[in-house]
Amino acid sequence: MSGLQERQQNVMSGLEERVPHEAISGLEEKQQPDPNSSSKMLVAAMDFGTTYSGYAFKFRHEATKKMYIKSWHKEAGSSCLPSEKAPTCVLLRANGEFKSFGYQAENEYSDIASEGLEEDWHFFRHFKMLLHNQEGLSSDTALKDSRGFEMPAKDIFTHCIKYMKDDLLEIVKKRKVDTVYTEDNILWVLTVPAIWEEPAKQFMREAAEKAGIEGGNLLLALEPEAASVYVKEMNVEVHQDQDMNQSRLSAFFPGTKYMIVDLGGGTVDVTVREVLDDRSLREITKASGGAWGGLRVNQQFYQYIEGIVGKEVMDGLKEQYPAAHLDLEREIEQKKRNLQGDENKKIAINLPGELLELFEENKGQKLSDFVNSSDHYKGRVDMRHEKLRFDISVTFSMFKPAVDSILHHIGELLSDPVTGGLQNIMLVGGFSDSRIIQRTVKERFKDFRVVIPQDAGLAVLKGAVLFGENPLIVSERVSRFTYGTKQFRYFLDGDPSEFREEIGGVPYCKNVFNVLAKSGQTFRVGQKVNTEVSPVIPDMTRMPVIFCQSNNPDQKYVDENCREIGTLLVDMPDTTGGLDRIVDVSLTFGDTELHVTGTDRSSGRNVSVAIELLKKK
Ligand SMILES: Nc1ncnc2c1ncn2[C@@H]1O[C@H](COP(=O)(O)OP(=O)(O)OP(=O)(O)O)[C@@H](O)[C@H]1O
Ligand SMILES: [Mg+2]
Repeated sequence: MSGLQERQQNVMSGLEERVPHEAISGLEEKQQPDPNSSSKMLVAAMDFGTTYSGYAFKFRHEATKKMYIKSWHKEAGSSCLPSEKAPTCVLLRANGEFKSFGYQAENEYSDIASEGLEEDWHFFRHFKMLLHNQEGLSSDTALKDSRGFEMPAKDIFTHCIKYMKDDLLEIVKKRKVDTVYTEDNILWVLTVPAIWEEPAKQFMREAAEKAGIEGGNLLLALEPEAASVYVKEMNVEVHQDQDMNQSRLSAFFPGTKYMIVDLGGGTVDVTVREVLDDRSLREITKASGGAWGGLRVNQQFYQYIEGIVGKEVMDGLKEQYPAAHLDLEREIEQKKRNLQGDENKKIAINLPGELLELFEENKGQKLSDFVNSSDHYKGRVDMRHEKLRFDISVTFSMFKPAVDSILHHIGELLSDPVTGGLQNIMLVGGFSDSRIIQRTVKERFKDFRVVIPQDAGLAVLKGAVLFGENPLIVSERVSRFTYGTKQFRYFLDGDPSEFREEIGGVPYCKNVFNVLAKSGQTFRVGQKVNTEVSPVIPDMTRMPVIFCQSNNPDQKYVDENCREIGTLLVDMPDTTGGLDRIVDVSLTFGDTELHVTGTDRSSGRNVSVAIELLKKK
């Protein structure tokens, strides 16, 4: 048997060994995601949200354990209110140069647009959703600004991260810390939804590195996981509702299972955790969720209004009067937030004068005459003094798609036997402030303790700082997908004939899915899974290996049920062994990101292995 044939045999026989099905018992060693993290003087976390972002930091040397949270300034009428998160939006000049971020960007763009000068500017917001479920994400993926002009998405993310980073450093410097500190003394923590796929995380990491954060000083934190750390560490106070008779959360004793539902602007991200004997946290189901965040409600309102005035009128407003369009979106947001959920009165949305004019120009009648005389809208909406008034039943229906998806999803998780014994459902994220959400979740899951921490909107951010201080507080995670490499081996009975390929008269199966991690499988932090890689040409110095994912735990072939998500690039600089060279590639699936390392088997030396998850154009 030739060396190549032997190795192909090994690929097959080694398969069972490489899949640590009985989880983790063999692995005693716990590895830190970042070995330097515990030595850093400062932990700085950024919660980069779809709708709102913020940052916080904490010095390790300070005895007070005080966490500093950035306070933004939100203009409300003539006054200026402090706010712990700012809208995730960015304003750039025509040449792509950064101008402003957050409330400042929103206000400046509004002024620019009301003066009709928007052509010289680019305004971006709500762009984080670009990375959710985006197949074929590449380093060059483009993003459209508010007027439809395309720019590289990476640059927009980089501008935001860089702004927050520089702002944070300014504040740190002003505090005149007596200990000398350098940027290398900072551990940066950046939050990402747990339901993001690996390419999206790599995109975020690259954006952060482009913003000047050294890769080795950066830790990605999974948003609901950060929140779960926060609620456990703080044993948080909860809202006291007279009507809901909510009790205090019980202590986090070993064995306590709890569900964290991070209700954000873009995504709803759920994780179920159990406290272990050593008080670390174990994930007990894979992270799950979907695009059912607070923005869905705004979109429903927007579409309803568009349905009344007509798409051409709404598009006209957006193109001709962007400032008025922005005002309408802000008005929807404000009215949504004011809802108590038990009111019996109509909610009134102020429509911009420009919209009323456009409607009259287009349709030849006043919008109020149209709405108030329509049988279709009778009892649902009416108009008075430029205000569109929604009946409460219509208002509730705006929440329905998001609420139904959330309730259904929580229900499904609770019916899974692994969540047996769970009593606490914690709602965090800004959307959990909605009384409608709170009420419906509590009503549906009466047998559970539904808890909303006092600062639910900041749980992810604060938890990210705590996680940065002690990444090992999370000890086990569950793989969201089945991961594996595309491999070649001898053709076996039962292999699909379309994957058969003969080389030198020998039949091979060319699309074998070499499973490395199974969907739903538990991994200890830092736990390694090994696979061996050999060259296919004697003098090749770098071997590319296709990396795939699937939802099916028993994926056997690289077929239409799985997806190629990237390439492992294995360096093999010493070609003396020809085809008889083996690199043992180790992958860690239990960390917040995938890490890859390689060892040349004959020399025992480390070799470089890169994992490229973003498509090249
Ligand atoms: N009182 C309220 N009623 C209804 N919705 C609210 C309320 N307060 C905040 N929200 C909504 O919560 C969302 C913002 O929450 P959060 O800041 O947690 O999201 P994010 O971090 O920007 O998004 P993601 O986590 O999905 O990236 C917005 O859609 C906002 O409208
Ligand atoms: Mg969030």
